[in-house]
Amino acid sequence: MERLQKVMARAGVASRRKSEEWILRGKVRVNGETVTQLGTRVDPDRDRIEVEGRLIRPEQKRYFVFYKPKGVITSLSDPKGRPVVVDWFRDVGERIYPVGRLDYDTEGLLLLTNDGELAHGMAHPRQEVDKVYQVTVKGIPAKNSLRRLQTGVKLTDGWTAPAKVRILWTGKNQAQMELTIHEGRNRQVRRMCEAVGHPVVHLVRVQLAFLTLSGLQPGKYRELSQEEVRRLKELL
Ligand code: URA
Repeated sequence: MERLQKVMARAGVASRRKSEEWILRGKVRVNGETVTQLGTRVDPDRDRIEVEGRLIRPEQKRYFVFYKPKGVITSLSDPKGRPVVVDWFRDVGERIYPVGRLDYDTEGLLLLTNDGELAHGMAHPRQEVDKVYQVTVKGIPAKNSLRRLQTGVKLTDGWTAPAKVRILWTGKNQAQMELTIHEGRNRQVRRMCEAVGHPVVHLVRVQLAFLTLSGLQPGKYRELSQEEVRRLKELL
């Protein structure tokens, strides 16, 4: 539920100030009833909102997978003027925002939407949505380190849930692992690897639930199909 004047402004009816004026002047009806109370809350997807007898259309829901490049902040703005993920979406009419976050130095799959309900659901720890990372680390993790990642690692904010781990390749002084977790704590993968003695050199999120980076390059995005949106909602 949102404030009526906010919903009106976002639908492009008028500025928020002007929308407030119209409400006060009795020109706005919600489900057939004239509303003159400024704090009135409405459900933009379900309530029928009319301004001077004309129905306003709810904002369309949009869903994107973005291949976030390294060196980009997962935010709507940055006080230091660094690039932020929404810079890539300025031409999208709707005001979309990221679901969860990737660190400045992490690249990979980020979901962006203007669907608050889905964003909220995905970010909730109860959902246990799989997040798959390709992690390049310093050194070659021994069996014991892998086992610790698999069973749980003690971090400053408590034990991590069991993770899935497999080695993808080993080099002279580095190795790459695929790590699957479903928690979303701050800098979790970096802290887990550090805790078992293998600091992260490079981190890419390659999968979120069933969504992958397939067909995308850093800095590119695609809109989800209706079928993918349906499957995401089904997960929640
Ligand atoms: N874990 C991290 O350490 N960083 C990310 O960006 C995502 C998961």
